[in-house]
Amino acid sequence: MEVHEAVAHEDESQFATEFTEYREKNVRLPVEHYTIHECMLKPLLNDGGLLTGKRILDLACGNGHYTRQLKDLGCAYIRGVDLSAPMIDIARKIERRDPKGIEYEVNDVVNLSSSQQSYDLVTGFYLFDYARDRDELLAMVRIISNQLGEGKHFIGIIGNVIAGKKMFDQRKYGVTREIKDPLDGERIPDGTEIVVTLYDEHDQPTTPFINYYYSPSTYEQVFREAGFKSLEWVPYQYDKNADDYAFFDDLINRAPSIGMVAKK
Ligand SMILES: C[S@@+](CC[C@H](N)C(=O)[O-])C[C@H]1O[C@@H](n2cnc3c(N)ncnc32)[C@H](O)[C@@H]1O
Repeated sequence: MEVHEAVAHEDESQFATEFTEYREKNVRLPVEHYTIHECMLKPLLNDGGLLTGKRILDLACGNGHYTRQLKDLGCAYIRGVDLSAPMIDIARKIERRDPKGIEYEVNDVVNLSSSQQSYDLVTGFYLFDYARDRDELLAMVRIISNQLGEGKHFIGIIGNVIAGKKMFDQRKYGVTREIKDPLDGERIPDGTEIVVTLYDEHDQPTTPFINYYYSPSTYEQVFREAGFKSLEWVPYQYDKNADDYAFFDDLINRAPSIGMVAKK
């Protein structure tokens, strides 16, 4: 598939189906789940290891992969929002099959209006990679800030902007990134288009899509501008006692993605 087709995302349904299959089976999941649950969410859980009573907003929720995991942690209310109607269709289908009380909405994050009741936690796993320029990134982060109560957190995952070009070749782990218009040198300017290809469990490429790069300092400035007091980077980690730790060694050292925890 040509990259310009991917940019247009002509067949969103196909992408949603492929991504859903990929989501359940990709080899990187143990690392991503461990990082999110053990390194990012854990400090926000109560003594029982739950999110009891919390109101959560999961942005760019896709098919609801993490929305369901958050709901399983006992929150009182959770809403998943995604731009893609086919992704939300899949999320709702799963909700009908196995009702958890999750609400889903098709919407662009930048069009969300402030909720009457603020949220205790906003999540965004692979949201900011889609901001086409700094203004859109700032608009997304401002919306998140407006949804959160004072002292509350945002947690998210994005492409590993700290590793720079080292994050690109992760073929062994079923994902590659390629700069669309090759650059000289190591510096990647803000707004650079990156073609991301995920590989399915048969090691076949799925529909490529475009992400946009912003430097760590741009993220830090944008979060400050939007009213956050802190932004902490959380490198991918993996359970040191896991049997297949050796397989993930390279991944941890040159991780394709990175976590972020911000406090308002
Ligand atoms: C790589 S998927 C990740 C989905 C989910 N968070 C997960 O980790 O399984 C990225 C999602 O971001 C959504 N997205 C991109 N830009 C968005 C925007 N401006 N508003 C809402 N959703 C957006 C896409 O439709 C896609 O479903």
